This record gives sequence, C-alpha cells and structure tokens, in this order.
Amino acid sequence: MTESHLLGNYNRFPVEFTSGEGVWLTDSRGNRYLDFLSGIAVNGFGTGHPEITAAVLKQLNGVWHTSNLFESAGQKELASVLASKSGLEKVFFCNSGTEANEAAIKFARKWGQGRYHIITAQGGFHGRTMGSLSASGQPKLWNGFFPLVYGFTSVQFGSVEAIRAAITSETVAVMLEPIQGENGILLPPAGYLKAVREVCDEFNLLLILDEVQSGMGRTGKWFAFQHEELKPDILTLAKGIANGFPLGAVICTEPVGACIKPGDHGSTFGGNPVAVAAALAVSTLLTEDILDGNLALGEYLRSELASADLPEIAEIRGLGLMTGIQLKPGTSARALASSLLEQGIVTGTSGDSVLRLLPPFLITRTEIDLFVSQLAAVFEASESRGVAV
Ligand SMILES: Cc1ncc(COP(=O)(O)O)c(C=O)c1O
Repeated sequence: MTESHLLGNYNRFPVEFTSGEGVWLTDSRGNRYLDFLSGIAVNGFGTGHPEITAAVLKQLNGVWHTSNLFESAGQKELASVLASKSGLEKVFFCNSGTEANEAAIKFARKWGQGRYHIITAQGGFHGRTMGSLSASGQPKLWNGFFPLVYGFTSVQFGSVEAIRAAITSETVAVMLEPIQGENGILLPPAGYLKAVREVCDEFNLLLILDEVQSGMGRTGKWFAFQHEELKPDILTLAKGIANGFPLGAVICTEPVGACIKPGDHGSTFGGNPVAVAAALAVSTLLTEDILDGNLALGEYLRSELASADLPEIAEIRGLGLMTGIQLKPGTSARALASSLLEQGIVTGTSGDSVLRLLPPFLITRTEIDLFVSQLAAVFEASESRGVAV
C-alpha cells in the first residue's frame, strides 16, 4: 500500500465498506457486516434505500447547485416539514452539525442584543469548529486549541441548580443535548429539560437544543425533546436528516428568526438541492410506525442485553435506537469494537469505556438477537484466551 497522504486525525479501522443493502454492509474483500452504527447516527434508513436513492438520482439529473442567491422550492418544502414537526417556525440550512451549532450561537447572540454568555453542559459535544468546540464541555477536546471563543460556561449535566447558579446579566442562552451522545449516551434525570425550560423562561434566556445525534427519529420521536412537554427556542440538526448526504439545519422561533437579516449569516452549499432531495425522502419515510418501531426495538435491544447478563457490562442505557453499553474497568471499548468488527458487526465507541450502538431504523429483532449473541461470543472468547477485549 502506498503511504497515505490523509491527515492523521482519525483512528480508522482497517476496513473499507464498498457496498451495502439495508442494515448490511460489504467490505472491499467481500466480507459482510451487520451495521449497528449507521455511520454514527446518520444512515437511519440504511444503505441503498430505494426511495432515497431514487430521489437523489432524480435531483442529480436536474441541478446540483444554484446557490442561495435564488429560490429553492425543495428548501421551502423541507423547512415547512421541519417547522411543523418541531413546532418551531424558521429554518436555516447548512452542511453539518458543527455549522448548525455555530449558526445557533450567532442567532442567540443577535437575539440577545449584547448579551452573549451561553451556559452549556459538562461532557456535552457540539462540534469541532471554534464556537461549537468552545460550547463543548469536554476539556480534552480543547487541548492545543486555546484561546477558545469567549463566553461559554459548562456546568454539571442534569443539574438545574447548576444552571441557575451560572446565570449572569450577560447570559443569553442555555445550550444542551437532550441525550449526550459523545459522552457515553448519557440521559439526564426525567423532567430536567422541562425544568431548564422553566429557568430559561424565568430569566428570558433562549433554550438551544442540539439534536444533531438524537434528532430525526432516532429516539422514537422526531426529536428527543418531544419525550417531555416543552419546546426549545432553537433546535439544531444534521447527521440523520439526509441519510448520508451532508446537510444541517437550525430551526428557531419566529422572534429569533426575525433578528437575522440578509447578510447576517449564510452558506454557499447549505441546503444543497441533492441533500434536500434526500432529506425530503427521509421525512416521508419517517412515519409513526417507524418512530414507534425505533422506541420498541431500542427497548428490546436493551432488555436482551440485560438478560444476557454479561459480566463485562456495568450499565446499559439509552432511549430508542441510541444505546450505550458502559463497560467495566479492564474492558476497552475500542478493543471490543475491533473484535466485533472481526466478527462482522459494526459498532462505535464513546470515550474509552462505552460501546455505542446506533443501528439503522430497519434493524429487526432477529438481527438484534444476532448482535447480542455475537457480543456474548466475543466476551467469551476473550475470557477463554485470558485477554481483555
Ligand atoms: C450532538 C452533536 N452535535 C454536533 C455534532 C457535530 O456534528 P458534525 O460532525 O456534523 O459537525 C455531533 C457529532 O457527533 C453531535 O453528536
């Protein structure tokens, strides 16, 4: 193999997937794999979905790009779907999760008319560009990149009191993930988001919810916040919105949207017609049946994992098809994901000690059973060899 000129910023597994169908992927050597990752919560409708592919092909035969200097019927249609599903009003399209969060931060500052301070959560993850990175409450991600963007304070995730204590006269917003995806699929206590909403109302702060990972049906609702009775002021999306085409979105209330005037923000590629065509196909496929299925399948997965009673597992947590398996000390998530890959199962990790499961929505109970038995087999093989996974 020739020496790679790719930057060494990813720790890649030595496998390349070259084709796939539904929840199955095939690598360049012809090996088949069961997909329990969906390209990190992206391909909810799996690989090669005929309706999404048809929508994309149709658009590829039309225009690929015209820029945001001109009208876009597709963007209008998708914005109307996202507004009606979220209960919010205005939509801005970009290309990724970090960009959606950058825009959300700018929108909040514009709305705040001088107030700029945003309270975030420790362990939170909002992206890698400087604003989103500064909003991410994970100091290990900051090393080497100081100074951060000024004006963020991260407080304990799950504590409403910690938010209250961090509010100053400069505070404009609270920015959170309803479920911390990059922090081990961590769920806050029940009622937390609603209580945060109340604090935001009390102090005239915006509530920004980052549903880049938890949104677009993954938890069994269009958006994870809909498991509680509340609405954010700003909602950010990306990942699953277009099943693998780069697209991000910021959805906000009318008053927040009204602050943004021509020239305040923009993106050359944001809302690209091909990505929007894919997203419109996704939105049609995301039916109540699929949403209910995601909730039930996730519960089935976690209950089967619990029944398997695997000694290496400390905790199993999640909602819908977002599941984190907290491993006991001595078991490395990376080594486990690597062993599972050798056995034909694609999984992810979150930190050093959490195996992250984000299967496509098309997964069946039989495939979940297969995953659980393979996981048990990998643990058993490592015990019998006397080596830790
Ligand atoms: C909650 C959350 N926000 C933002 C991002 C960043 O998204 P992107 O990688 O598309 O920039 C991610 C990515 O993992 C995420 O999980």
